[in-house]
Amino acid sequence: MNLDNEKRLAAIEAVKYVKSGMTVGLGTGSTAAHMVKELGRLVKNGLEIVGVPSSENTKKLAMELGIPLTTLEKTSAIDLYIDGADEFDPYMQLIKGGGGALLREKILTYNSDLVIIIADSQKEVKRLGDFKLPVETIPFATKKIEQSLQKMGLQPKLRVKDSENFVTDEGNFILDLNIEHISNIQLLETKLKQIPGVVETGLFLDMADIIIIGQGETTITLK
Ligand code: 5RP
Repeated sequence: MNLDNEKRLAAIEAVKYVKSGMTVGLGTGSTAAHMVKELGRLVKNGLEIVGVPSSENTKKLAMELGIPLTTLEKTSAIDLYIDGADEFDPYMQLIKGGGGALLREKILTYNSDLVIIIADSQKEVKRLGDFKLPVETIPFATKKIEQSLQKMGLQPKLRVKDSENFVTDEGNFILDLNIEHISNIQLLETKLKQIPGVVETGLFLDMADIIIIGQGETTITLK
């Protein structure tokens, strides 16, 4: 199984929804990078779009490929948002944020008319929770949030990169939580958002309109 090829196939299928004149939200991660590259190729061939990147990494890639960009505050509407996911379940609920861009990703998802998630076949799970749930926290409160989450049995781990705390594009930290024993994820989302200093969680509940999954040499679309 070639997972990178599955990502690429899902990305190419998603890009078929993009039409000239659209404002397109650009996700983050290795699957989303395939989508940005495909858009870059089409832009060179005359497709007229404006992109809104969800991270500094995606912004850099899109600029290198010559995709015209704008920002969320300058755009009146995002027609379509395309992004990857770390997990999705049969109800199209997602965990995102493995790449650390969950805050801007969730803001773009919320503000887009149509949300397409692209994934390889390994991202499909019966129940969310094999993947650790990323939660973005402000640095000032992170230690206290970590203690609260520990008491809730969520085994928080502060994300580290190159021996330093991982810092998001918005200057925050990330705690990765073990939620495999949690049955009510909606309630979990509510409880996490009630903790002062929690900025956002990687639970994307009822936010995906379409999921395109690369499966071997083809794709499957869930709506
Ligand atoms: C980044 C994300 C990514 O979409 C998610 O981590 C999937 O990444 P990849 O496509 O590399 O598997 O949420 O914050």
